[in-house]
Amino acid sequence: MNTEEIRKDFPILSETVNHRPLIYLDNGATTQMPRQVMECWTSHYCHQNANVHRGIHYLSEQSTLAHEAARQTTAEFIGCDDSRQIIFTSGATDSLNLLASGYAFPRLGPGKKVVVTEFEHHSNYVPWQQAAKRAGGTFTVIPVEGDVLDLERLKKELDEQTVILSVTAISNVTGTILPLQQIISMAHAKGIPVCVDAAQAMRHGGMNVKELDCEFLAFSGHKMLGPSGTGVLYGKKEYLKEIQPVRFGGGMVDIVDLKDTTFGEVPYCLEAGTPNYAGDIALAEAMQYMNKIGLEEIAAWEKELTDELEETLRGMEGVTVIGGKQPKNSVVSVSVDGVHPYDLASVLDKFGIAARSGNHCAQPVLRKLGYESLLRFSPAFYNTREEIHILAQAMEKSVAMLRKWC
Ligand SMILES: Cc1ncc(COP(=O)(O)O)c(C=O)c1O
Repeated sequence: MNTEEIRKDFPILSETVNHRPLIYLDNGATTQMPRQVMECWTSHYCHQNANVHRGIHYLSEQSTLAHEAARQTTAEFIGCDDSRQIIFTSGATDSLNLLASGYAFPRLGPGKKVVVTEFEHHSNYVPWQQAAKRAGGTFTVIPVEGDVLDLERLKKELDEQTVILSVTAISNVTGTILPLQQIISMAHAKGIPVCVDAAQAMRHGGMNVKELDCEFLAFSGHKMLGPSGTGVLYGKKEYLKEIQPVRFGGGMVDIVDLKDTTFGEVPYCLEAGTPNYAGDIALAEAMQYMNKIGLEEIAAWEKELTDELEETLRGMEGVTVIGGKQPKNSVVSVSVDGVHPYDLASVLDKFGIAARSGNHCAQPVLRKLGYESLLRFSPAFYNTREEIHILAQAMEKSVAMLRKWC
């Protein structure tokens, strides 16, 4: 991985923060954007901008073609044959809400249940919980011990009453890579559809929906070098048809009259209103950018960096690395004896280091692990070994300083 060359594509990586070169280790929250993606977005507004699906004029057609090409690129990126299986949303949260309200809610009712795991980000937890609550159904959460999902319990809970299982591909707290193939096979053995929350997984080698055989896949653009406010919901054709539109407006209808409305076809009936077409086009450019570097190369380098980071942190006195029994990628969370994560993140910021502190929008798993807050480092393929070494020195200094003060 030629990180030196790659970094030239990311203008923000040359910034200084608090008079130090920026070391950006908060990629789990959002990744940085390469120049090519920004230029693609700007170019669309400079040369092709018009609303999609609305007009017959030249620009509208150009804009529509570019948007549909982005849908095709997205489909290819996740190994899907038909671009009509790609719904553009505003992010993973939006995709999961659409599914919870449009697919699960109408099927849930007394006796029926939706199953998630304790690992889940609030975005793959609260929408299902609330859908079950509104419908009078049951919300079942499979427990986690350390960083290990209780697969026996999962097997027991998956039954004829289960409407859907929704599970993350990678935990945003522990970095744990879940055994998705095994989980999906378990659900399919009982005829239960599976939604995969791939928000943390897309930039580590991507996801192939054919190999996974999941019914739905949700992810965000801004966690894979794309713009914020973009995202995707993929679905198998027969399942997408079953989603009831939950947002209504222009672009998604067939016939509207006083008494009722009929809806257009998938994907358009699930994309009410003007889509974020320039963002979606830029997201497709981000996918092409990653393809050019090589998905396997990206995944391999991120794994190397994560392993080095984890080993470095484990070697520090009073530092507990969360998890470690299961394989992980690109997320290392720690707790440091006698030091609050918020204070540590604030002091690291003075060294120009961007790290995340807090509950990481995953209160249930933090509570289970026995923490209110953790400090999280999440490297990406444009990070370097040298940055990890600087982080290690900054951690030593910051922890010593905070222990002295507190
Ligand atoms: C595992 C996981 N799922 C879902 C989300 C929600 O993503 P977004 O806020 O982009 O919708 C996140 C964001 O951190 C995440 O890590």
